[in-house]
Amino acid sequence: MIPREQFHISGLAGEKALSGTIPIRGAKNAVLPAMAAAPLFADALTYTNLPDIEDVGRMSELIEASGAHVDRQSIRRTTIDPRYINTHALSDDLSKRLRASIILTGPMLARCGRVSFAHPGGCVIGARPIDIFLDGFRKMGARVRRRGERYDIHAPDDGLYAADIFFKLVSVTATETFMMAATRARGTTVLRNAAMEPEIEDLANLLNTCGARIEGAGTPTITIHGRKQPLRARGHTYRAMPDRIEAGSFLILAALAGDDIRITHCNPKHVDILIELLRESGVPIETERSAITISGNRRVRTDTLTPLSIRTHEYPGFPTDLQAPMTVFLTQVNGESVVFETIFENRLNYTQDLITMGADITMWDPHRIMIRGPQTLRGHELDGPDIRAGLAFIIAAAIAKGESLINNTYYIDRGYERIETRLQDIGLDITRVAV
Ligand code: EPU
Repeated sequence: MIPREQFHISGLAGEKALSGTIPIRGAKNAVLPAMAAAPLFADALTYTNLPDIEDVGRMSELIEASGAHVDRQSIRRTTIDPRYINTHALSDDLSKRLRASIILTGPMLARCGRVSFAHPGGCVIGARPIDIFLDGFRKMGARVRRRGERYDIHAPDDGLYAADIFFKLVSVTATETFMMAATRARGTTVLRNAAMEPEIEDLANLLNTCGARIEGAGTPTITIHGRKQPLRARGHTYRAMPDRIEAGSFLILAALAGDDIRITHCNPKHVDILIELLRESGVPIETERSAITISGNRRVRTDTLTPLSIRTHEYPGFPTDLQAPMTVFLTQVNGESVVFETIFENRLNYTQDLITMGADITMWDPHRIMIRGPQTLRGHELDGPDIRAGLAFIIAAAIAKGESLINNTYYIDRGYERIETRLQDIGLDITRVAV
């Protein structure tokens, strides 16, 4: 049962500023594939620095439902023992609730020779088809059958074949899925037009430490030398990399409403593009090896910030997952900005709510908007539509005049750990209430 809860936020209205330190948690989109890798292993693997978020909970349940033993020793530490996996069928209910469940199909197919699963389903940000996955499995010699909403995929009797797979479009989870499946395939697989996100390199490092031979992760061409034997953790502990989207979201909040904010336990290099753009707009940002600081920001009035043109792109371009928070930033700069969402088809729908709050946004087409700033936003009651737009609403409510209510806290909890207590720590008046 999803609890019905709301966030209550009192807007700062430019009169008060946030200050303090905010540490970044482990990366959701690195942890999900790392957990999904468990079936590739012969032994138990321990995961640390886990964020305490809904999606990690769902992935644990999904793996547990296949028979694996999942031992949650603390909120940040879990061990998964794959030796007890006893089915090739992924739970319908859980996989429909977690789009990232698709990543588990590669390791399950490699382990069991067969995997069946329900279509992960679309969501508010777009249709989210799985054709690239099905094509890739076929190229590795698997037989793909669809019965209604379920897919049944069989590897050849002697195991998956190595393949040369050119992705017709760049996909993060498809790159991860085939990188993992190929570690147990017969021969050398080459993935071309692969995604280059840091989470992919992070996953390759984990697999390589445990016996895989993967070269080129983090570049568009990845070569995987398959092996018959499963990987072995031999006591190795995986530590999740910092969440770059969380760091970026907090940086945008700090750019709008922070005076002295220090974002710690992060990797500033992973948000280079955002830092570059915010600086170009006039935000004073300092970086160290694992921290980002905004100080003296109060001196910079938003009407001196300059507009920007943003185009979402695969890494190292501007992440689609920061597009909604960045749009909130652009409502406060002086002049006309343009945002072009190139990855997902429905990822600008939330702008209607920002308009209700007072933003001046024109939708040119489903992929492009123009924002005229600065506009004062007014507090409002909003429904969080997805993880990232939900966080954008928190930022909008934080800078608005008056009170806001944000419904569907569940979406925000899927990707951000206890957001309210962490934002209270830097001075925001935000509370979670049951409704
Ligand atoms: N696509 C297809 N066919 C496929 C697969 C993808 O057409 O078989 C399309 C998608 O519809 C989309 C584009 O390819 O238009 C790129 O999507 P991608 O496959 O890269 O997205 P994803 O792997 O499903 C990951 C993140 C998303 C993030 C995107 C883009 C994870 C678990 N999820 O999704 O994160 O937005 O990459 O960077 O890594 C989030 O964290 O809120 C989130 C949605």
